[in-house]
Amino acid sequence: MRRTIVAGNWKMNKTNAEAVEMLTKLAELVKGDEKVGVVIGAPFTALSDAVKAVEGSHIEIAAENMNANESGAFTGEISAKMLTSIGVKYVILGHSERREYYGETDEIVNEKVKAALANGLTPILCIGEKLEDREAGRTNEVNATQLKGGMAGLTAEDAAKVVIAYEPVWAIGTGKTATPEMAQETHKAIRDLLTEMFGAEVAGDMTIQYGGSMKPGNAKELMSEADIDGGLVGGASLDADSFAEIVKAGL
Ligand code: G3P
Repeated sequence: MRRTIVAGNWKMNKTNAEAVEMLTKLAELVKGDEKVGVVIGAPFTALSDAVKAVEGSHIEIAAENMNANESGAFTGEISAKMLTSIGVKYVILGHSERREYYGETDEIVNEKVKAALANGLTPILCIGEKLEDREAGRTNEVNATQLKGGMAGLTAEDAAKVVIAYEPVWAIGTGKTATPEMAQETHKAIRDLLTEMFGAEVAGDMTIQYGGSMKPGNAKELMSEADIDGGLVGGASLDADSFAEIVKAGL
């Protein structure tokens, strides 16, 4: 069954105290809105306290990255098992900032997706084109490469567990949101590709979020589109009231 999921990506923001304060308020604000899945991606340092802060609510906590290895000599890294051991349920993978700043390739992202699934985490797999790709008419080509690369080797059963986040890079943090029509056109192309890859039933039930300057003022129009099943929200997820408004726009 396809679900609308509104996820926040705090990126490198919030101390533990700030995380607990925001989540405590958010849990109150979204009480009764269980029809929409609510996820918050928080920094590693805040994850344990974040999980405790949302206990009793329908909010789930995501990590913003993870290492694909089970354990070992990977200084500074965090494994899937470390995340599940503290109650984390989702992990954001392949975000454009990690691809850009830390050289994450489709192959690296694919290893992480498979390791997340093997450990019972739900991956939020990020794909999206840069402005020059869009302007050159390469949007669907870029998304197809990232989707096929990120989901390589997955069975249809595993693919069904993955949340896709389409984030046009040129809309991230810029205030330049894709129009609902533009976003829907790209989401439909992504859904069609997922159908080719995994079959219509699996593709029809998968959640495809939109990310890129989603705000309270544009969320409802975006999520009213047939193939936009929620959002992956950066800036507007840092404030409980704004993020709760976006959740309610998905009802
Ligand atoms: O992962 C979500 C993020 O990239 C979107 O950021 O600030 O444009 O909502 P923002």
